[in-house]
Amino acid sequence: MFYHSVLVIGGGLAGLRATLEARRFGDVAVLSLVPPFRSHSGAAQGGINAALGNHPEGKDDSWERHAFDTVKGSDYLADQDAVEIMCREAPERVFEMEHWGTPFSRTAEGKIAQRPFGGGGFPRTCYAADETGHVLLHTLYEQAIKARLTVYEERQVLSLVIEDGACRGVIALNIVTGEVEAFAAESVIMATGGYGRLYSRTTNSLINSGLGMALAYWAGAPLKDMEFVQFHPTTLYGTNILITEGARGEGAYLLNNRGERFMKDYAPEAMELAPRDIVARAMETEIEQGRGLYDAYLLLDMRHLGKERILERLPTIRDIAINFAGVDPVSEPIPIQPGQHYSMGGIDCDARGQTPLPGLYAAGECACVSVHGANRLGGNSLLETLAFGQRAGEAAGRYAQDRGKRNPGDTPLAHGVALKAAEEKLDGLIKWEGRENPHGLRQELTELMMDKVGIFRNKEDLSQALAQVGALKVRFQQTSIRYKGKTYNLDLARTLELEGMLDLAEAIVAGALKREESRGSHFRRDFPQRDDARFLHHTLARYTPQGLALGEKDVTITRWPPEARRY
Ligand code: FUM
Repeated sequence: MFYHSVLVIGGGLAGLRATLEARRFGDVAVLSLVPPFRSHSGAAQGGINAALGNHPEGKDDSWERHAFDTVKGSDYLADQDAVEIMCREAPERVFEMEHWGTPFSRTAEGKIAQRPFGGGGFPRTCYAADETGHVLLHTLYEQAIKARLTVYEERQVLSLVIEDGACRGVIALNIVTGEVEAFAAESVIMATGGYGRLYSRTTNSLINSGLGMALAYWAGAPLKDMEFVQFHPTTLYGTNILITEGARGEGAYLLNNRGERFMKDYAPEAMELAPRDIVARAMETEIEQGRGLYDAYLLLDMRHLGKERILERLPTIRDIAINFAGVDPVSEPIPIQPGQHYSMGGIDCDARGQTPLPGLYAAGECACVSVHGANRLGGNSLLETLAFGQRAGEAAGRYAQDRGKRNPGDTPLAHGVALKAAEEKLDGLIKWEGRENPHGLRQELTELMMDKVGIFRNKEDLSQALAQVGALKVRFQQTSIRYKGKTYNLDLARTLELEGMLDLAEAIVAGALKREESRGSHFRRDFPQRDDARFLHHTLARYTPQGLALGEKDVTITRWPPEARRY
């Protein structure tokens, strides 16, 4: 059995930032499905928000304005105390990355460059061309190497180990060897990212199955606000690779098949820089009403920015468009459509990452603090990973140090039982000869979520989706894995993920069905208005032996009472 004071599950930005903090209090290790620099954080393009006031039009910016924009963007479902913390601490987190070596783009005066992003009242998104996530991730990874951090790569966590009502470690599959391993710890931080692969059209990479959320849910930590799923307006038609909002921040337009900037009909002031929920709905409406191209996509036009600016600020976007759509944005518009991008919901936790399960913490996209409420603003995700990664690392580190002092030499006993149970489960899955193909089931699930639990929703579709997810769960019991070997059994790994995906889908659909209103990314055609009287609360999904149980939790309002959201 391996032992570390704190275990961090996930080697992306939130996980690495948490690790660097937690190690101030004791020995820390990271378990990651992939080498940390291959984490999905590296796919983030456009930038990270902080009210620095470096842009000529941003001089009057302040953390309070950033917080207000975030709360308004969230459609008033974010917890305002947590939003205040994030926005107040944003400059410190960004300067820290700068001092660690992140090569941010610069203003003429040499300050960190900032660009406008959707729903932000000021240009406050700090960027490094269009590869901000990539450079932040590499900066943190360098710090991790410098600190000689222990990283267990290519580990898929199978279960959390709970002893005396507290989380004391995990059981993980070593994907390289096929061995099941036990890791004991005083505290565990989940930083496993989102569940984008639940949708057939997504910007998320293959590793984003949401399994980390499912593991916490199965262990007794509730999931919060799962019905809120973000669709990014501009994903490349065909592959759904992200085409950064930074392109619109630099001045690119959205056009329909008549060559019109249709956003004038939906958000006349903010236009293309309205928040994502509003732009994605406008695009879906244009396509539904016959103003798309081939009834499938719209156009993002940046030709007027000129080659020099495109090469300086959006070089990756140009490469992606050329290589994956055969279009050079210097001379042609890019075909784009909305695609799933982010999960506002996640493991219920507070602003220190503490979940209701003692010893278990969460940070980053798998967590729901909540700072994004019903709709996240672009640029607040990278910020969240650093702000709450740091806070969760500190809290989990202190907890572990304290617990270790109070219980010296206390080796948990539950790992033996959990290890045996996991080995038996894997053995059973590998030997079982059922009639269902897990990859077929996964595809059915992702298409179902896209068709019936997408940008526009209604009771009939959601009820059908709930019944169909239930049927898929029954069929999952009959899945058969074709590759029976131990090493690199990705057939097995994908099947284990599917089990989690089915439960997450159920939580998303059940929450969406219960929420009979429209708020942020959750738009019910049968209930098109926000209904604060009935629904100004978070949704909690709990895993029980009898199945999913839904509950509610209050939203914290500090200084911005809900009002109409106009852009
Ligand atoms: O469009 C983008 O660059 C994405 C940013 C984000 O999701 O925060």
